[in-house]
Amino acid sequence: MMKASLKACDVVIFGGGGDLAMRKLLPALYHLDQDGLLAKNTRIIGASRREMSAADYQAKVREALDEFVPKSIGDEKTWPRFKERLSYVSVDAQQESDFARFNDAKVGADDKDVVFYLATSPDLFGSICSSLANHGLNQERMRVVLEKPLGRDLTSSRAINDEVTQNFGEKQIFRIDHYLGKETVQNLLAIRFGNTLFEPLWDSAHIDNVQITVSETVGVEGRWGYYDKAGALRDMVQNHLVQLLCLVAMEPPGRNDADSVRDEKIKVLKALRPIEGANAYTKTVRGQYAKGMINGKEVKGYFDEEGSNPESRTETFVALRADIDNWRWAGVPFYLRTGKRLGQRYSEIVIQYKAIPHSIFNDESNRQLQRNQLIIRLQPEEKISLTVMNKVPGAGEGMNLQPVDLNLSLSEAFHNKRSPEAYERLLLDVMRDDATLFMRYDEVEAAWKWVDGIMAAWNQTSERPKEYASGSWGPAASMALPIKDGRNWHDY
Ligand code: BG6
Repeated sequence: MMKASLKACDVVIFGGGGDLAMRKLLPALYHLDQDGLLAKNTRIIGASRREMSAADYQAKVREALDEFVPKSIGDEKTWPRFKERLSYVSVDAQQESDFARFNDAKVGADDKDVVFYLATSPDLFGSICSSLANHGLNQERMRVVLEKPLGRDLTSSRAINDEVTQNFGEKQIFRIDHYLGKETVQNLLAIRFGNTLFEPLWDSAHIDNVQITVSETVGVEGRWGYYDKAGALRDMVQNHLVQLLCLVAMEPPGRNDADSVRDEKIKVLKALRPIEGANAYTKTVRGQYAKGMINGKEVKGYFDEEGSNPESRTETFVALRADIDNWRWAGVPFYLRTGKRLGQRYSEIVIQYKAIPHSIFNDESNRQLQRNQLIIRLQPEEKISLTVMNKVPGAGEGMNLQPVDLNLSLSEAFHNKRSPEAYERLLLDVMRDDATLFMRYDEVEAAWKWVDGIMAAWNQTSERPKEYASGSWGPAASMALPIKDGRNWHDY
């Protein structure tokens, strides 16, 4: 059990009063405290420009917990302890002299480890890191966590990285991709490398195609300004979907440690076949949502959102076929798709096995033997299922076969266990200095190179993203993407 190894730590959250802190980071820290995973002297220090007393900050956090962790209401055991950990430092991230306030607050005193979580705009990463360094707050036991977006292309991501690495070493930098903290994503590693069953069949001889879908029902949610400069390719594919692809496609690492895992992921990224020039027409589909109905409610189109600009060509949906040029995956397409305002919120990875080489069940009812599928569902529910062909029971049924799912529902298998939010695992890992589930810079860079190629090809055309009705599964052309190769998307 990992509990015992936990060291006391000061966790400083820049953007400590912001949306991410209130919705995700503080609830995650609260849950860690509830589960006994925060050391006695661990402190949480909110930092932002606003003037606020520690008591005001505690009250603000209490409100956020009431909203985002309703079960915390009336929790007499954890809340008093958690409240004691909370304090606040008012700093203007661009005012270097303000950073002396961290020294006054004894951040990192007595050789304590420190985590600086930068939940701010990436434009501030460089100046925050240099001001921390100028106040002696970049020692080896001090780490920075960088939230995405880590740039909008290779050049801007390099600029951010250059600034940060002037003051912090690679081992002190934790680039977060919250998808890697999701339970089923980690379970993918357990399935692949904790069983003998799957790995021998994990290659182009046995797998026909892999599909990764991250489908959202939400729109841009008041973030038009950010989103319109990003779009689905940069916001979701460059990081979350590509990271999932790496975990599916990588070779077994020698050890489960940060560099062994990341060394394998980078090989996959380097083997991704570029999608450039005319290839972008056949291998990618872009879409933009129009108005429509979701869960019985009428919702706005992209151009009706606040702050919108009718000239925008930003995609809110992307589907693409990726190919990995290596021995294991030769000829196996990886279909990726993600979009906003789609019919259902769900994320899954589907491993579609090949058809059996020869069928002995040749009567009429068995003409269409379904292929085996391994489905790893990340959300809304966390489950893994394997579709296998079975005989329908009954003497009169002859050898009638039908697909049946062998289900591993995590909530049923581990019914006493609460499934943690992604940020819980990731925050805990930063505190214990384990970077396995974080991105090393070479990964970020390789992912940008691949995405920049697609972007450049799109920019050369006058074609606009295809419109799709909110509540649908994206533009019709995205349905056709696997069909062109004689395949289909797995239906939710
Ligand atoms: C974020 C994107 O990284 O991930 C958002 O910026 C997106 O646009 C979100 O909505 C999705 O995360 P999750 O965990 O809700 O699937």
